[in-house]
Amino acid sequence: MPETEGDDDVLRVEHVSKRFGAVTALRDINLHLRRGEVLGLLGDNGAGKSTLMKIIAGFQNPDEGRIVVKGEQVSFRDVDHARSLGIDCVYQDLALVNELDVVQNMFLKRELVSRPIPLLARRVMRERTREALERIGINIPRLDVPVARLSGGQRQAIAVARTVTSEADVILLDEPLAAMGAKEGAMILDLVQQLREAGEVSIIMIAHNYVHVLQSCDRVNLIQGGEITFDKPTADTSVEELNEIVVEEYRRARRAAQAG
Ligand SMILES: Nc1ncnc2c1ncn2[C@@H]1O[C@H](COP(=O)(O)OP(=O)(O)OP(=O)(O)O)[C@@H](O)[C@H]1O
Ligand SMILES: [Mg+2]
Repeated sequence: MPETEGDDDVLRVEHVSKRFGAVTALRDINLHLRRGEVLGLLGDNGAGKSTLMKIIAGFQNPDEGRIVVKGEQVSFRDVDHARSLGIDCVYQDLALVNELDVVQNMFLKRELVSRPIPLLARRVMRERTREALERIGINIPRLDVPVARLSGGQRQAIAVARTVTSEADVILLDEPLAAMGAKEGAMILDLVQQLREAGEVSIIMIAHNYVHVLQSCDRVNLIQGGEITFDKPTADTSVEELNEIVVEEYRRARRAAQAG
């Protein structure tokens, strides 16, 4: 099937650039995400992946370019604005509040309120937190401890659970497996697979493992030095092809450095 951008795109990034002082993090990025699709985003350290996610999530503004959400061009005021349009991100650095407990983090900025019985809302939030974590399959014995006391993988599970149980229909996962052991990582990939089969949300997942991306995603984009250099359905590519592109880029950069 040819790769055309069409009306079923829930998200389009058009000609986006971003600089930090002398560093050009993104240059003329064009990316699209179809309804129900899982898009894998690969790229070396510093390639610009997280910067791109932060721009799509309303956390940072692009210097140039446009974001189109469900057909409407938007200029995000902040993260809440993007969230109100259905876009939510699990950040690489997580954005949990260390001092708050598991339940409070799960419902951060979307607390349930039940006056006149606040305790009832707390009980409901607690049950929903338990359900969401069970759905991922991560066991966190106590939900009333500050998340600072949890392991990196447990914290990551909470961040993922929070986002997939939110109202969001465009979900950005920035290295969701990074702090996970093999078993927990497999659970997160299973969850992505369930969401993919249900087809109700669209996902961009950043990962470093080619095999995970080829298994879990419909399509893969590669970002190199702030530019998208590769865009193919996962069915039409392989670990070898992706590896060859990345290694070739490294060799080219090395030759250029030696020549210079
Ligand atoms: N807030 C910032 N201020 C200055 N430079 C930044 C900032 N955020 C990112 N950069 C720079 O922009 C470039 C892209 O960073 P980014 O975090 O997007 O990379 P990445 O692809 O997510 O890498 P990794 O795989 O290591 O997470 C890097 O050179 C980084 O140093
Ligand atoms: Mg990153």
